[in-house]
Amino acid sequence: MAKDVIIALDFNTKEEVFKFLDLFKDKKPFVKIGMELFYAEGPEIVKEIKKRGHKIFLDLKLHDIPTTVMKAMKVLSNLDVDMTNVHAGGTVAMMEAAIKGLTREDGTRPLLIAVTQLTSTDQRALEEDLLIEKPIDEVVMRYAQNAKTAGLDGVVCSPLEAGKVHATCGDNFLTVTPGVRFADGDKGDQKRVMTPLEARKIGSDYIVVGRPITQAQDPVAAYNRCIEEFLG
Ligand code: C5P
Repeated sequence: MAKDVIIALDFNTKEEVFKFLDLFKDKKPFVKIGMELFYAEGPEIVKEIKKRGHKIFLDLKLHDIPTTVMKAMKVLSNLDVDMTNVHAGGTVAMMEAAIKGLTREDGTRPLLIAVTQLTSTDQRALEEDLLIEKPIDEVVMRYAQNAKTAGLDGVVCSPLEAGKVHATCGDNFLTVTPGVRFADGDKGDQKRVMTPLEARKIGSDYIVVGRPITQAQDPVAAYNRCIEEFLG
């Protein structure tokens, strides 16, 4: 299975993005485009980054009625991204519709992964706001199983959950894990973190790394360090 480091391009102008990507010269890291950049710059930014030869994870976390998600996914599949996502909370029917929309006429499609519960949702919010009276890791595993049932390729999860997701859904079910920090680095607002080496040992398939690379004094060196630790 292809394992890789995905850089979160958490910038909100294309000038900043290209200044950053130019640092890598002819190296073409796998990158993540989130809502901030997509809503600021529109689909053009996806096309431009793709044209430069990068793989793209388009992190827009769709969550709506199945028909709307199907139609939106059809549009995204034309952007030729490599990976995109939905909220598993939209139900199995919504995730099945997402796959349908994403699948091109020739049968190919980008990888589709699900967000289970956001890491910002804790046990209190689950019970008091959402009236879900189950332990949060049970909820996360059930949502992961729902994603698998719908035919998705994997989930976004904390690296701490990656082992359990594989135990529940199988080793081929992808775990894409943010919350990665170097052992000697600043945690920022991430609370439950792992180093790239630990993420590798626990079986993460892709790590998503933002500030430890984008805010580093030498982003290329930080990226290379991530690759070395994670891919060995
Ligand atoms: O800068 P940092 O490495 O914390 O960035 C992590 C990236 O992964 C950000 O784009 C953030 O939005 C995203 N993410 C996350 N935690 C999640 C889901 C996504 O940090 N549970």
